[in-house]
Amino acid sequence: PKLGVVLVAAGRGERLGAAEPKAFVRLHGRTLIEFGIGVATSLPHGGHLVVVVPDSHAVRALEIVEQVLPEGSEWLVSVVPGGRERHESVRFGLEALHDTVEVVLVHDAARPFATAALFERVIAEVRRTGDAVVPALPVADTLKRVDAEGVVHETVDRAPLVRVQTPQGFPRELLAAAHADAALLSGAEPGRSAPTDDAEVVQRAGGRVRTVPGEVRAHKLTTPADLALLEAIMEANVA
Ligand code: CTP
Ligand code: MG
Repeated sequence: PKLGVVLVAAGRGERLGAAEPKAFVRLHGRTLIEFGIGVATSLPHGGHLVVVVPDSHAVRALEIVEQVLPEGSEWLVSVVPGGRERHESVRFGLEALHDTVEVVLVHDAARPFATAALFERVIAEVRRTGDAVVPALPVADTLKRVDAEGVVHETVDRAPLVRVQTPQGFPRELLAAAHADAALLSGAEPGRSAPTDDAEVVQRAGGRVRTVPGEVRAHKLTTPADLALLEAIMEANVA
């Protein structure tokens, strides 16, 4: 397969505070990981999906794959254990990808309602440009820079700012090479924190990152309040 998808689902979900790791929490009776596997394997022409889960949940994840994958699917699906940090989970996922994969998407299982259309938009832009591609949405709120005491120092111009989502797409070699460079992943340099998404890793390695329009419905489940938001997004079938 030429297309690879790494579905990162190995986080503990501490901010959600559920009994199970976040990717195994249910929305309308289906686990987040089911939604992610479902949308990835609905993409045409097949590919290799690598699902990265907590070690404790590898067997459960394999059972879910069995249930979700349609009979005769052109998708190859693997389950691998994740790491302590998200970037480690991504790296383990990348290392498990089939040799033939040329374009890879990294997607958060915590964004269960990202659509196949969004996946396709990202893939098309990676193929068109050879660059990294992230879904982005405009910022609606007024933004201010505050200090540690919460005192406002200035209003930040939001016009050039966007908030980004997953799936994020990459030429496979570009992302693999960036993730193999441990120096880019640490917050070791003074004043530099660890990267919070894959596009940032690629950018630190000197790669160009482009945007395509994101989706409100690709919202991430982070805290309990997001459960209600996602239920509403699902019921209203928001784009
Ligand atoms: N993730 C992962 N491996 C980790 C940490 C995160 O695969 N060591 C995945 C999560 O499963 C999630 C995505 O990365 O799908 C985004 O991370 P986040 O929303 O922070 O999820 P958690 O780390 O599980 O949540 P929290 O930070 O609240 O513990
Ligand atoms: Mg986290």
